[in-house]
Amino acid sequence: MRITQKIEGRIGVSMTESTVAAGAPGKTPKTKMAIRNATKVYETRSGGVHALDNVSLDVREGEFLCILGPSGCGKTTLLWSMAGLHSLTSGDIRLGNEPIVKPHPEIAMIFQDANLLPWRNLAKNIELPFELKRKPPDRALIARLLDRVGLTGFENKMPRELSGGMQQRASIVRSLSVNPSVLLMDEPFGALDAFTRDEMNLLIQEIWMETRKTIAFVTHSIAEAIFLADRVAVMSARPGRIAEIYDIDIPRPRSIEIQTEPDFIKRVLEIKSRIQHGRGAGGPRVAIT
Ligand SMILES: Nc1ncnc2c1ncn2[C@@H]1O[C@H](COP(=O)(O)OP(=O)(O)OP(=O)(O)O)[C@@H](O)[C@H]1O
Ligand SMILES: [Mg+2]
Repeated sequence: MRITQKIEGRIGVSMTESTVAAGAPGKTPKTKMAIRNATKVYETRSGGVHALDNVSLDVREGEFLCILGPSGCGKTTLLWSMAGLHSLTSGDIRLGNEPIVKPHPEIAMIFQDANLLPWRNLAKNIELPFELKRKPPDRALIARLLDRVGLTGFENKMPRELSGGMQQRASIVRSLSVNPSVLLMDEPFGALDAFTRDEMNLLIQEIWMETRKTIAFVTHSIAEAIFLADRVAVMSARPGRIAEIYDIDIPRPRSIEIQTEPDFIKRVLEIKSRIQHGRGAGGPRVAIT
């Protein structure tokens, strides 16, 4: 059974006039992507691997949804299915009314690795999706996005000349340049050092506030999930199911410092205890960062 739990309370941080309340109280949220009974069994030489079991979840239009769960619980499997990169064993995933059975132009994916082609400079990497679709690149939008993420002037650099954070910023620009309405992110900042990760979390928060794209963001980090999300969906250990969904009502913009506030820590511990409680003995550990 899916439980929706509201964690009450505001974090005592000073907010500017542009503060945006998380969620939209009073309005019935519109579903952007509907996942229904998604089940995935990988057939392997040594037998079937039951990765997802009857996952049902609505991703709401314009929300920032974080998906959290222990290693191997099927987060990547779920995201790949949402991106149309592989098929489900049973169940279905829809964008509006459209079943997602192959990659869709409105859905972009960002991986843990920036996946830049080492022999192409930054500009040529960002233009790749346009080349693949034989469309002219939207250079005005790309220039705006590069400026937005602080990469103007780096267009001619090769990936090896860029830091990990810069490479991941470039991959964000590449994804946004095709103007998707849904952004799927699979532990995009997991390989970055703590400071760069904080910077990237602030950046993605700003980008989300400016664009209101629908974002589904997979992470191992409970703090990162609470910091970013409107809702946090917690998955149980494999076969992955949605164990619980938490509404995060912290107003935005959220500062990195809120993570040291007692109320924030309380939320982290609550989710951590839910994950540990739901985990079988000897199951995988969840890295708390
Ligand atoms: N192509 C595949 N073939 C066979 N089994 C697979 C395949 N991809 C994933 N699995 C298995 O499915 C389960 C779920 O894997 P998945 O990568 O979705 O988990 P995850 O939650 O993303 O883990 P992590 O947090 O470590 O990234 C795991 O047991 C994994 O070994
Ligand atoms: Mg994964």
